[in-house]
Order: sequence, then C-alpha cells, then structure tokens
Amino acid sequence: MTDSAAVVRPMGSDDLAAADRVYRLAFGTQFGLPDPSRFRGDAQVLRGRWTTDPRPCFVAERDRRIVGSIVGMDWGSVFVLGPLTVDPAYADRGIGRLLMRPAMDFIAARGFALAGLFTFPASPKHVHLYESYGFVPQHLTPVLSSVALDSRLRGNDGIGEHANLLSDLPPAARAAARAACRAVSDAVFPGLDLTHEIEAIATQGLGDTVLLRDGGGISGFALCHGGAGSEAGSGVLFVKFACVRPGDAAGFMRLVEACERLAAVRGASRLVAGVNRARDGAYRAMRERGFRADLIGVAMHRPDGAGYNRPEIYAIDDWR
Ligand SMILES: CC(C)(COP(=O)(O)OP(=O)(O)OC[C@H]1O[C@@H](n2cnc3c(N)ncnc32)[C@H](O)[C@@H]1OP(=O)(O)O)[C@@H](O)C(=O)NCCC(=O)NCCS
Repeated sequence: MTDSAAVVRPMGSDDLAAADRVYRLAFGTQFGLPDPSRFRGDAQVLRGRWTTDPRPCFVAERDRRIVGSIVGMDWGSVFVLGPLTVDPAYADRGIGRLLMRPAMDFIAARGFALAGLFTFPASPKHVHLYESYGFVPQHLTPVLSSVALDSRLRGNDGIGEHANLLSDLPPAARAAARAACRAVSDAVFPGLDLTHEIEAIATQGLGDTVLLRDGGGISGFALCHGGAGSEAGSGVLFVKFACVRPGDAAGFMRLVEACERLAAVRGASRLVAGVNRARDGAYRAMRERGFRADLIGVAMHRPDGAGYNRPEIYAIDDWR
C-alpha cells in the first residue's frame, strides 16, 4: 500500500529538527525505550550527515508534517545508506519505500561499486524491504564497546608515540595527510575515500582524526567522533571509521590503542567501535582487547559480494 498523500523531497536545513524528532521516535519505538524521543541521547546523526553532503538526504512529508527521512554517506566508491526512518504512526503505508526511491536513484546515478547498509538481522520487515532493492545480507556487524579503558592510559597526556591528531598538524600539512589516508583506504577497497568525513569532523567540530605513523608516513587512520552533537554523544568516543593496510595486524592494534588513549584524554568513559564479523583478525583482536557487543546488526550489500568485509581487512565501521 502506498500513502498517496505523502510526498518525498530533498531535505533542507528547516527540516532537520523535525526529521531528527522522527528519527529518534522511530528507533526509540523499535527498541522499546520508555521515552522513545531520548534515543541516542545528545548524539546527532542526521544533522551531521546532511551538513556533510545533502545530496542523498530526503524527507517524506504528509499534511505538512515530516513523517520520515533517509540520508546516506558518499565514501567514494562506497555508498552507505541510512538511516531510513518513518514515524511509527505512519508505518506500513509505503512511506519507507517512497523514501528509498530517490536514494536508489542517487546510487544509480553515482554508480558506486558498493552500496551497503546496517540493519536488524532478526527483522523480517527490514530484510524484506532491503532485499527488494537488491541488497543482500552478509556477515553480522557487532557494534562493540569497551568501558574499561586501560587505567595506565588515564592521566597520560597524548595518544602515544605511534600516532598524532590531524588537528595538531599545521594547516598546510593537512591536505597531504588526507591524501595519505586516502591511499590507505584505497588499499582496503579500491576507491574507498573518507575525505569528506575527515573534513566534516574538522569543520563541524565533531571530534578528531587519529593518524597512525609508521616511519615518516601514515599507515592508518581513525575518524573519531566525541561528545554532544556528534555521532558519539556525551561521554563516548565513537570510531566512525578506521583502517590500516590489509594484513597489518600490529598496526591495527596500535591504532586501537591510540583511540583508547584519545578516549582517556577526552574523558570519555566508553569507546564504541563496530567491526564486521568477516574481518576476522580485526574482530578477534577487539574481543581479546576486551570489547564486547552492545548491539548486533547485519551488513547488506548491493551488489552481493564481500566488499571489504574480508578476513585480511583491519577496519572498523558499523554503518549505523
Ligand atoms: C523500517 C522502516 C523505515 C520502514 O518504513 P515503512 O514506511 O513502515 O515501510 P513500507 O511500508 O514502505 O514497507 C514495508 C515493507 O515491509 C513489509 N513488512 C511489514 N511487516 C513485515 C513483516 N513482519 N515481515 C515481512 N515484511 C513485512 C511490508 O509489507 C512492506 O513490503 P511490501 O511493500 O513488499 O509489501 C520503519 O519501520 C522504521 O522507521 N523503523 C524504525 C527505524 C528503523 O529500523 N529504520 C531502518 C534501519 S535499517
């Protein structure tokens, strides 16, 4: 059934507050929170994604009310779709499908090598909806967190001898650092490019980018959101994306440690870092370091295939 009174149009700045309200209500209801509107606390997802790139962001409007939205992230050759949310009062009327339409048009027009999303593997509704657009369930993506930040790290200034922060570099050196990050992510998946996300962290004040140093060069990086208004929320350091070159298990552990140190330096009590289960070495290493799953989703890919969810890939991201 399609709600013929609903229309979909590009998201504008005036829509952000209403779209955010629906986003929290939809997920808060899905998770059965006592007050659904408090879902994700003071973290912000839609505002940052729209500010970073409004092109794949759309709202559904009915009776001059925002009743749903969809956003996405352009990571070069990879598109991450979501979140898609519909006001629970308007669920199952085809509004989710109305919102998928322009998002799928955007994917087709840009010709991404891989489009992916994170959804709930135990929900027949979610899997059915996305399968009908050609997304295929892959491995699980546990969203991991660590509460017990190593006490040795507390009170220790800085993020360790193996890493530094993009914000500490002189402005003239930052473009070269971003290019070096691009070379590392390109080794993970051809064309994977987090440049917009790195810039968004800097320009929107969402956190910082950790640069892993190896000799003179950059051998890995981690995009870290922290605090209210970012995708982390207060008291949390959220690793939105991180990687080293394929097979660099030792470098990955140094990068995770630098993120732990950054969390300690910033006074965060929790470090959140999701890893797809197919990245076997990375996942096991995180478990051994004490990370545990808070939430388990599934990665869905279009077209079907592993993408960069492969055993030798040492990368962190959860696509929520
Ligand atoms: C997921 C969500 C966006 C879907 O929006 P919606 O407007 O209700 O979806 P639509 O009505 O367009 O489509 C739902 C589809 O699921 C089907 N469906 C509904 N319940 C189902 C069930 N229990 N089992 C299987 N399919 C089901 C519907 O029949 C429809 O498919 P059809 O068009 O082939 O008949 C909405 O439920 C939501 O906001 N949920 C909370 C937030 C969330 O989980 N977002 C997605 C995160 S990945």
